[in-house]
Amino acid sequence: MAESISPMGINLFSPFKMANFNLSHRVVLAPMTRCRAIDEIPGLALAEYYKQRSTQGGFLITEGTSISNTSAGFPHVPGIYKEEQVEAWKKIVDAVHDQGAIIFCQLWHVGRASHQVYQPNGGSPISSTNKAISKSGEFSYQKGHLSRILSLVPWKPMKFLRWWRIIVVQP
Ligand SMILES: Cc1cc2nc3c(=O)[nH]c(=O)nc-3n(C[C@H](O)[C@H](O)[C@H](O)COP(=O)(O)O)c2cc1C
Repeated sequence: MAESISPMGINLFSPFKMANFNLSHRVVLAPMTRCRAIDEIPGLALAEYYKQRSTQGGFLITEGTSISNTSAGFPHVPGIYKEEQVEAWKKIVDAVHDQGAIIFCQLWHVGRASHQVYQPNGGSPISSTNKAISKSGEFSYQKGHLSRILSLVPWKPMKFLRWWRIIVVQP
C-alpha cells in the first residue's frame, strides 16, 4: 500500500507537538463509551483496554466519564466523582504512562440525553434546558441492554437547572 504523505512531508506517523505534549505520531484514540465499568468503577477491563491501545508517545482520550451521579445516559459508564473511582483511574493512568502514552479524561454530563433510569431515585434528568431531546437524541439513552426496559418506562420531563442553582451547587 502506498504511504500517504502530504506536500509538507507530514503523515500519520509524523510527530506532533500538542501544547506541552510531544506526540510521537498522530494516531489518536477517540473517546468511546464501552459500558464496561460495572457500578461506575473503571476496573480491570478498562485498564486492559487502555493499556492495549497505548504506544510510546501516543495520545488517548478516555470514554465519557461521569462527573456526578446525575451525569450518565448509558449503563456502566465510569465515573470520576468518588474516591473509589479516582483510585481506580490512577491504576489505568499508571498502566498507560508505563507504555509511554498520554491520556486525557473526557468529562461528561449528558444532560437531557439521560433518562430517569440512570438518575438517583428515578428522578428527572438534569439539564440546562426544559426542552425535550429530539427523537434522534432519544437513541442515546435507549441504546444498551436497558433499551427494552426503557421503552416500557414512561418518560419524565427534564428538571431545568437554572443558572442560579448551578452557582449554588458549585463547591
Ligand atoms: C461505540 C462508540 C462510542 C463512542 N463514545 C463516545 C464518547 O464517549 N464520547 C465522545 O465524545 N464520542 C464518542 N463517540 C464518537 C467517537 O469518538 C467519534 O467521534 C465518532 O465515532 C466519529 O469518528 P469518525 O469521525 O472517525 O468517524 C463514540 C463512538 C462510538 C462508535
